[in-house]
Amino acid sequence: MRIGIIGAGVIGQLRARSVREHPSTELAAVLDTSVDAAAKAAEGTGAHALTSLAAFLDVAMDAVIISSPVHVHEEACLGALERGRHVLCEKPLSNTVESCRLIVDAAIRADRILAVGFNLRYYPSIKFVKDSIDEGLIGDLDHLRVFGGHEGLPKFRVDWQYKAPESGGGAMMDVGIHMTDVARYLLGEITQVYGVMSESVWKVPGSEDNAVAVFRNAKGIPATYHATWTEWKGYQFYVEAYGNLGMVRGFYAPMQNLLITQDRPTGPRKKKRLLYPEIMLREKLKSWHSTALQSFRGELQDFLAMTEGRFDVPLADGYAGLRAVEVAAAVRKSSETGQVIHLPVLGRMHQ
Ligand SMILES: NC(=O)c1ccc[n+]([C@@H]2O[C@H](COP(=O)([O-])OP(=O)(O)OC[C@H]3O[C@@H](n4cnc5c(N)ncnc54)[C@H](O)[C@@H]3O)[C@@H](O)[C@H]2O)c1
Repeated sequence: MRIGIIGAGVIGQLRARSVREHPSTELAAVLDTSVDAAAKAAEGTGAHALTSLAAFLDVAMDAVIISSPVHVHEEACLGALERGRHVLCEKPLSNTVESCRLIVDAAIRADRILAVGFNLRYYPSIKFVKDSIDEGLIGDLDHLRVFGGHEGLPKFRVDWQYKAPESGGGAMMDVGIHMTDVARYLLGEITQVYGVMSESVWKVPGSEDNAVAVFRNAKGIPATYHATWTEWKGYQFYVEAYGNLGMVRGFYAPMQNLLITQDRPTGPRKKKRLLYPEIMLREKLKSWHSTALQSFRGELQDFLAMTEGRFDVPLADGYAGLRAVEVAAAVRKSSETGQVIHLPVLGRMHQ
């Protein structure tokens, strides 16, 4: 499969590497507004290094990975889909609900795969939580707690990463968008949203620094959610799932799990901890990029599977991308109106 990359910054360089290294993929072209960035990603491959979207779309290729800033995802996604390419787009799919819908509709019209880079699904601690629930280790799921945060504005290198309208919002559209997807991935479709958000710390108009919410799935099972840009201890996220026979926790960074199970609600408890020392050591030597790269390799493998009609993979589809942005907009609306926001079931986009 011939793959092109749009956006060759921090994430795009890692995405390009995953394509260069995969035995079944070939890098066809790299597009960036900086020709040096594009050339660096294309190095040693013979791929075109380009600065014009029109020229990029003229290169023969089967699929496009989009890792440019969020406010230019729409143009890139629509261009690629209209030319019949499958698309794997970084999170968030776009910066507004309307824009996400345009992209999803374009993928449906073109009958192409639209996948979204919710790569936390591929982090071992999140995978462990998903498997524990699916294998019935904690019994019937009762509720989730999800959290994602970091210290906020000092984390950002460029304006589009945190300033609305380009960013589409604040903590909910940044680390929080991953956790919305994790909640949906574990709960099933999120159909009700109640939330409160605030901009009182960093005071960036339209970019919340805290959002606290309750989501419910179609069966009424809730998740409590908190996305923050005022976390004192740096980047971290966790999810805790509670069932009638135990609980399971997935944490990062560092990567960790805790599983507590019991045969009956008042019975003796068994505890299992996973600490992933090899990941901790690798990150000490090669930073978090090495963990992101591992997840991008997994996503690429499953993207190829989806283009071949195999859909039973963890890779997030366009509906996951749309729903995560819809949920962020619903928290905003709920915070303004004090109302619960209802959303229809979307389900899976490709089957
Ligand atoms: N999944 C993850 O773990 C993760 C982590 C960080 C960022 N992201 C997402 O990845 C994307 C890129 O983030 P980043 O941290 O790599 O940003 P970055 O600033 O490092 O890179 C963005 C690149 O896009 C280029 N660019 C700007 N406008 C462009 C255009 N119109 N066409 C093509 N290229 C253009 C820039 O020159 C830059 O090289 C964003 O969508 C972001 O939300 C995902």
